[in-house]
Amino acid sequence: MESVSFPRVKPPGPGEAVRIDVKGTPVAVFNIGGKLSAIGARCTHVGGPLEKGPVSGHVVTCPWHGSQFDLDTGQVVRGPATVPEPAFKVRLEGNVLVVDVP
Ligand code: FES
Repeated sequence: MESVSFPRVKPPGPGEAVRIDVKGTPVAVFNIGGKLSAIGARCTHVGGPLEKGPVSGHVVTCPWHGSQFDLDTGQVVRGPATVPEPAFKVRLEGNVLVVDVP
């Protein structure tokens, strides 16, 4: 396990999301009521930007065709996507985003 920090990225505020590049993998970091979650940012259907999708509870909806993913596990909640997103552990150290890479 390796931790990657992002000192130049403004952490998302409540209700916001940011897209970061974690060693070549696009990752969407969401702030849901103060709790951070991170999953792959590129929809496994055909690549929609999940950081731009609406969030309801712990589920994000892809803005392109409506696939839904669980923000804690990356599992598909609703298709057309069939492949889960990778899920990452994310935290703040001070005001710096830190993502664990398995
Ligand atoms: S690209 Fe996300 S649902 Fe199609």
